[in-house]
Amino acid sequence: MAIPAWLQDAVFYEIYPQSFYDANGDGIGDLKGIIEKLDYVRQLGATAIWLNPCFVSPFQDAGYDVADYRRVAPRYGTNDDLVRLFHEAHRRGLRVILDLVAGHTSVKHPWFKASAEALPNAYSNYYIWSDDWGSSDPAYRFINGYSDRNGNYMINFFHCQPALNYGFRDPDPQQPWQLPMDHPDVLRVREELRDIMKFWLDLGCDGFRVDMASSLVRGPQAEAGLRELWQDYRSWLERNYPEAILVSEWSDPAAAITAGFHLDFMVHFGAPGYTSLLRQENFRIHNSAFGGGSGHSFFDRSGRGSARTFADELTDQLQRTAGLGFVSVPTGNHDLGRLRQGRSPEEVKVALTGLLLLPGVPFLYYGDEIGLDYLTGLISKEGGYNRTGSRTPMPWTADPERAGFSTADPECFYLPPGPPDRPNVEESEADPESILNLTRQLLQLRHAHPALQAAGAYRTLIAGERQPYFYWRESEREGFLVALNPASEPRSARFALAGADRARPVLITPGVELDVRPGATTLTLPPVSYAVYQLDL
Ligand code: GLC
Ligand code: CA
Repeated sequence: MAIPAWLQDAVFYEIYPQSFYDANGDGIGDLKGIIEKLDYVRQLGATAIWLNPCFVSPFQDAGYDVADYRRVAPRYGTNDDLVRLFHEAHRRGLRVILDLVAGHTSVKHPWFKASAEALPNAYSNYYIWSDDWGSSDPAYRFINGYSDRNGNYMINFFHCQPALNYGFRDPDPQQPWQLPMDHPDVLRVREELRDIMKFWLDLGCDGFRVDMASSLVRGPQAEAGLRELWQDYRSWLERNYPEAILVSEWSDPAAAITAGFHLDFMVHFGAPGYTSLLRQENFRIHNSAFGGGSGHSFFDRSGRGSARTFADELTDQLQRTAGLGFVSVPTGNHDLGRLRQGRSPEEVKVALTGLLLLPGVPFLYYGDEIGLDYLTGLISKEGGYNRTGSRTPMPWTADPERAGFSTADPECFYLPPGPPDRPNVEESEADPESILNLTRQLLQLRHAHPALQAAGAYRTLIAGERQPYFYWRESEREGFLVALNPASEPRSARFALAGADRARPVLITPGVELDVRPGATTLTLPPVSYAVYQLDL
C-alpha cells in the first residue's frame, strides 16, 4: 500500500464546526466562518483540517448521529459552502478531511426508519436486529421496545445511534440474526458507505477520519473481518483517489494501519501511554479503558509522573507500523480534556513542544494553540456531557462578551465562551511569548526539517521516574534533541549522544544548561522548561 507523500509533512488542525467562527450571526459556527479563518489556519503551520461531522442530524450526539450523509446541516450552510471550503482550502495548500460516521446512523436516518418497520423491507437488514423482542445477546448493547418490529436493535454508542450491519465475521449458527459479512444485504451497506465516500471525494474532500473505525464488524474474529473490510475500501481508494487518506479512531495504530488505515491516533481505548502523558482523568467516558497507571501524568508540575509508559508504547507502535502508516498523538480532541486544564501557559508550552515534534502526524485541536481552557460547570450540550467543556467557542478577540466568535446575543451562543480572562487569538498574536507564537515556531521548525516530520526516526533517550523526558529525532543529515521538564523542580539527566558538542539550541527556555564531557553529556533543565537542540550529522 502506498502512502501519499503529503502526509510526510502533514500537520492537522481539528475544527469543531459549531464552535469555530460564526459568519452569519446566529451564534453557531458555520462553514463560511471556517472559510474566513483559513488564512489563520495556514499561518499557524497546519497543512490540513479535520472537520467534525457537519451533516444533517438531529444533533443528539453533536452530529455523530447522521440523518443524511450527503447533505450539510443547514445550521452550517449548504453543500456548495462545503465545496467552496474545499476549494478555498486547496488554494492555500490545505487539505480537508471529513468525519465519516461509518458504524452507525441516527435513528432519524431514513434507512433506520424503514428498518424499524414491522414488515420486512429492503432496509430490514441494514441494521443489526435480534429476531425477537424478548431476546438479545448480552455480549452487545441492544435497545428494546423502539418500534413495532419484533426485535431489538444493536447500538454503538448512544441509544439513538443504531449500528449499521457490516456483518459478523463468524456468525454463531445458533443465532440466525447474526448475518455473515458476505450476506447480500450486508454487502449493500458496505456499498452504501463507499458511495458516500465517493460522493464527497468527487466534490473535493481529501479523505476521512473514520469514527469508531474498529466497531464495524462483530464476532470473536472481528479483527480479521475488520481487516478484510478496510483493506477493501483502501484498495478502492488507492485505485481511484490515490491522494486521499483514511484516518481511524481505533487507538491501536498497529491494528488500524495493518487493517488499511493511513494513520491512527494513539489515545484512549486501552492506550495507557496517552493518559500517563496527559492527565485526562475527568473524562470517565474513556477512562474505564485506561486502567491502572501511577495516576500521575508526565506533563504535570507535580513531577510524579513518568514518560516511560508513553515512550515505550510509542516505540512499540512505531516499530509495528514502520513504512506502513503513521501514528498520531493529538494535543486533544472534542472527546478529551483540554491540554490547558490544570496547567499554566508555561506548562502548556512544554507539553506542546513535546507533542508537536513527535514522529507521525500531529493533530492540533482548535484552541489548544492559544491555551484555551476546559470550561467547567456547563450543562451537557447535544450529548456532550463532560466533553461539553472542551467544545466552547474559539476566542478570536479580547471582546469580553462575544470573544469575536459571533455577533449574536451571547445568550444564543452554541456554548458560552467562558470567563473574560480567557486567552484569545488577537492578544496571542501580539505577544511574542504566547503559546500561539511558540506553536507557530514549532510547526515552522517541523516543516523545515525532515528529521522532525512524520517518518523521521525516533529514539527515547531519557524517560523514567523523576526524570525529564529526552527524545531524539533524526533523518540522513541532521538530528534533533527534544528535552522536556514539566516538573516544578529542576531536573537533569546524563546521556550519551555522539557529537553533542556540536549541538546548537534552536528553541529553548532560559536557564537550560548542556554540559558536554567525553563519554557523557548532562542536560539540566530548570522548572517547567524545554529545549530543542539541532545537530548536523
Ligand atoms: C467517537 C466520536 C464521539 C462520538 C462517538 C459516537 O468517539 O469522537 O464524539 O460521540 O464516536 O459516534
Ligand atoms: Ca452561524
